[in-house]
Amino acid sequence: MAKKLIIANWKMNPQTGKEVERILVGYNKQLKTKNLKLKTDVVICPPFVFLNSVGNLLKAKSYKLKASLGAQDVFWEDKGAYTGEISPAMLKDLKCGYVIIGHSERRKYFGETDEMINKKILAALKAKLNVILCVGENYRENHNEIPNVVEEQIASALANVPKSAINKITVAYEPVWAIGTGIPDTPEGAMMAAVLIRKTAVGIFGPSAKNLRVVYGGSVNAENAGNFINHEGIDGVLVGGASLDPQEFAKIIGSAI
Ligand code: PGA
Repeated sequence: MAKKLIIANWKMNPQTGKEVERILVGYNKQLKTKNLKLKTDVVICPPFVFLNSVGNLLKAKSYKLKASLGAQDVFWEDKGAYTGEISPAMLKDLKCGYVIIGHSERRKYFGETDEMINKKILAALKAKLNVILCVGENYRENHNEIPNVVEEQIASALANVPKSAINKITVAYEPVWAIGTGIPDTPEGAMMAAVLIRKTAVGIFGPSAKNLRVVYGGSVNAENAGNFINHEGIDGVLVGGASLDPQEFAKIIGSAI
């Protein structure tokens, strides 16, 4: 069975390189003092401008947290006149292994559509990046029912993705109402979404998608992380705010059984 996955999404934080160092040194220190043995895969997703320095630190021999580097977004073209954009080739050059695509904040503030997300996924896969596709509903009227929009987001995001690429994809189920609100979904709710997401993927790709990796994101913290990470059918967590606090993040890592 694949290892569980813990993703740190720093979003537009921190503000300086010095702070980046403080966080990373903090992770290291926490892992050392708690004598934590890493039982999961870990991916750190800093802002683009810090990818290089974070990548270098993660590679250092003395650095205990053996994490992969991830970006928070990517454009679908490899090069050209696209002011402000970052291409899959550039991420590869920085030794990025992962990229988050379709985060709800990008959908909301930057008008990312399902079609754009699909183009980004196809381009990232072509460049052999691992994709973390974010999906999730804005509201859930009936708590025991995952809204159809989740299936629709999966179907359009994964259109034309070759079957052989399914193991390069992780879906992060992130209900928008749970992000940054301090009100996480229940593990049962996240599990229900994971089942629906895998079912949708099997409908598209066939039985090979039944083990599609699905993680949960939205107000994950040191107290609740273990309930998600160790839950059957949930393959890990995507952590926003709490990943900026080394003590909190080390506890999250440590909560994996
Ligand atoms: P949060 O963010 O953990 O701060 O709620 C999660 C996310 O948006 O990725």
